[in-house]
Amino acid sequence: MRRMVRETRLHADQLILPLFATEGRGVREPIEALPGHSRLSPDLIGERAERAFAAGLPAVLVFGVTDRKDGAASAAYDPDGPTQQAVAAIREAAPELVVITDVCLCGFMDHGHCGVIVDERVDNDVTLELLAQVAATHADAGAHVVAPSDMMDGRVGAIRSGLDREGHPDVAIMSYAAKYASAFYGPFREAAGSAPAFGDRRGYQLDPANVREAEREIALDVGEGADMIMVKPAATYLDVVAMARRATGLPLAAYHTSGEYAMVKAAAERGWLDEPAAAIETLTAISRAGADLIITYYAEDAARWLHEETA
Ligand code: PBG
Ligand code: ZN
Repeated sequence: MRRMVRETRLHADQLILPLFATEGRGVREPIEALPGHSRLSPDLIGERAERAFAAGLPAVLVFGVTDRKDGAASAAYDPDGPTQQAVAAIREAAPELVVITDVCLCGFMDHGHCGVIVDERVDNDVTLELLAQVAATHADAGAHVVAPSDMMDGRVGAIRSGLDREGHPDVAIMSYAAKYASAFYGPFREAAGSAPAFGDRRGYQLDPANVREAEREIALDVGEGADMIMVKPAATYLDVVAMARRATGLPLAAYHTSGEYAMVKAAAERGWLDEPAAAIETLTAISRAGADLIITYYAEDAARWLHEETA
């Protein structure tokens, strides 16, 4: 009877797995703060993506990681950069998997900020040109969807015109429209080596106290041509997910972040939580709040647990 009247059905089709792409050959570096996840070189990441597809996942989200950092984030738009190489490898190994790329500069900047620094401040408009270039090189490598996570104003429009100009009118944009200046990105910054060397990201990411501002950010990105909208983090922002659901008819994604994953993981390791139950409950709540898609480090495990539940 409960099966019959259930209102929310979590399904593997909704889950997107983040992957960390590094340079070199034969590199598999486990990420300490994200148990079960590693930085992988291009020769290993294809096989990893193939496994995700076999587990029933429709898509992966690729983050490039590099030691080649400078003040212009040049490795971010290098056609042979870590993200670009990984995308090509994944497309070859798993041709039916949707490949989404994170578009940002922080992991490629020597100062770790998401934009270009001019006179000790992040310069919004100078940054837009570089972001458009990053997105175009991801599309050249074969990305189906680009996901800008920088939170600069006007970047969706800049990326859209750049993609159209470079011959990629059918590459979609999943915009991190409502991305908060959150403490729940800690493990990710270790994984990507992208912590800011000075200051913080409160100048460009949203204040966790605000929801009306998030609604304005979503409207701006929709107006600039976003194809999908994202809210991040997810589990502590269910009211924002519900607001976003009402605010737009576009596909809505929520990012269950590294810190949210780590909390469940660490408590489970101590025997304080039942991991599959806590993870599935969290993901179900995010879906119930209105998310169509959930980006989560639990994607592969959750696909398996959901399968076992119904088998
Ligand atoms: C970088 C970026 C971050 C995340 C995704 N893209 C970190 C940040 O903004 O500092 C967070 C992902 C996670 O915590 O899982 N722009
Ligand atoms: Zn960034």
